[in-house]
Amino acid sequence: MAKSLGAAAFLGAALFAHTLAAQTATCSYNITNEWNTGYTGDITITNRGSSAINGWSVNWQYATNRLSSSWNANVSGSNPYSASNLSWNGNIQPGQSVSFGFQVNKNGGSAERPSVGGSICSGSVASSSAPASSVPSSIASSSPSSVASSVISSMASSSPVSSSSVASSTPGSSSGNQQCNWYGTLYPLCVTTTNGWGWEDQRSCIARSTCAAQPAPFGIVGSGSSTPVSSSSSSLSSSSVVSSIRSSSSSSSSSVATGNGLASLADFPIGVAVAASGGNADIFTSSARQNIVRAEFNQITAENIMKMSYMYSGSNFSFTNSDRLVSWAAQNGQTVHGHALVWHPSYQLPNWASDSNANFRQDFARHIDTVAAHFAGQVKSWDVVNEALFDSADDPDGRGSANGYRQSVFYRQFGGPEYIDEAFRRARAADPTAELYYNDFNTEENGAKTTALVNLVQRLLNNGVPIDGVGFQMHVMNDYPSIANIRQAMQKIVALSPTLKIKITELDVRLNNPYDGNSSNDYTNRNDCAVSCAGLDRQKARYKEIVQAYLEVVPPGRRGGITVWGIADPDSWLYTHQNLPDWPLLFNDNLQPKPAYQGVVEALSGR
Ligand code: XIL
Repeated sequence: MAKSLGAAAFLGAALFAHTLAAQTATCSYNITNEWNTGYTGDITITNRGSSAINGWSVNWQYATNRLSSSWNANVSGSNPYSASNLSWNGNIQPGQSVSFGFQVNKNGGSAERPSVGGSICSGSVASSSAPASSVPSSIASSSPSSVASSVISSMASSSPVSSSSVASSTPGSSSGNQQCNWYGTLYPLCVTTTNGWGWEDQRSCIARSTCAAQPAPFGIVGSGSSTPVSSSSSSLSSSSVVSSIRSSSSSSSSSVATGNGLASLADFPIGVAVAASGGNADIFTSSARQNIVRAEFNQITAENIMKMSYMYSGSNFSFTNSDRLVSWAAQNGQTVHGHALVWHPSYQLPNWASDSNANFRQDFARHIDTVAAHFAGQVKSWDVVNEALFDSADDPDGRGSANGYRQSVFYRQFGGPEYIDEAFRRARAADPTAELYYNDFNTEENGAKTTALVNLVQRLLNNGVPIDGVGFQMHVMNDYPSIANIRQAMQKIVALSPTLKIKITELDVRLNNPYDGNSSNDYTNRNDCAVSCAGLDRQKARYKEIVQAYLEVVPPGRRGGITVWGIADPDSWLYTHQNLPDWPLLFNDNLQPKPAYQGVVEALSGR
């Protein structure tokens, strides 16, 4: 059940004028999540020219589909549609992109990918009448129908995607047509559970009394209730808070790479994990590291401080440290990849995440709702769930595999993997614009865990869960796994859907292999490879072949980016690994670029 852009969406209308010079930009239309009756998508405008774009407007038209809501742009018209920038995302520097999102009602047809037009796109329109993988942007063309000017909906930019994707896959329980509108997401009402969250019929439900206690416009919706499920009720979700945060935020989603380094060689994010909790690697105490980030990268991941436990002070939410980092990112030309809304290790879990917590599901929901809403508009993407799959090398409690899943506290409390589904649905409702990733390690081995990953992602897609991409952490070694296996593992995810993005989220390459049964080939002294050693040259080839594999296997529109897990070798979480020193990153102990850095340069520049 998709909403339509009703008259209410056009309140606050204003006039705007097109005063845009012809530019060389590519404008691509992407589907980010699809379910039976609709989908969410985005239009991404990438400045391919040599001067900045100041202000943009695009247009498009469907045969059967119709727009039901949008965000991060002023959208007008009723097929054809026109969209122009908001105050904070009109500026696009050369090589940079801006995206805005929308939700579409298929209207009885199949999902369409119309051409995107507009003076900004002329000459090099990258559009998508077919999956991105089969239409190179350079040959795609479109000539848009012109769009009559120009009543814009100021509300369109703040109307969230809220319940419809969930509604289509979350039928009501035996409470007739009634459901619970829980901060913009619809859940079944419980039949037997009288308080809080329940687990009935193999899914989460909310007790009638708990739902009814939510403030308007949330609460019980559907026939017989006072707040029917309609476009008006769903457009009044928590995302009104979200959008006010978004519209007042700086242009983090259209950030600018400030250097001529690695990021300038790619049209997808080139990221780095940064430390911000003390020590030599702390970005706030090391101006040398700040310089490297600014010069080489255009995205950061917080190495630790956006993980679950770091979101609290005692039992209260506390965002002081993470806000500081996110602001720093915006001020320094970096987008932010959020890491991670859900992750199991006991040493980075909040207090509520225990087996004995009877309110676990409520606390779980509140965590995702609050954290995702807090960073909405400031985080380009999230690892929504990290490491949910079983790994025989990392099973501290010895609980074993449950059909490929790790039996984490989340799995135990939910009695199955459905916490993953719920986490994604909540994240989408709280922040409709963030790209939502599932992230894991050893999945590049192309073994049993890769199969479990394929099964997990397929299950989520089948359930209409709003997943936009899959992250391969890619903590690998110089000699393992083989590049053929890495390539095939990524290919298996590429093949699952025409739109899923693939991201390398935590790349590092260790010189030593402590598991190969051969200690004579190990570097054992910290000085062995501080400046040079044969292993560093092999590492260069390894970084290069991994980036090349990514470019070969992942179609252009589906590259979520490549992030390395730390700036310089002394910062790495693998400084010593299995009692051996290691040097897994792109910059050495003196913060100088290593051969590995050159390997990435060569791969990104096609050499
Ligand atoms: C690591 C950090 O690098 C360490 O500083 C911290 O002590 C533990 O976590 N996979 C992940 C990351 O998803 O969050 C981990 O980061 C490395 C493995």
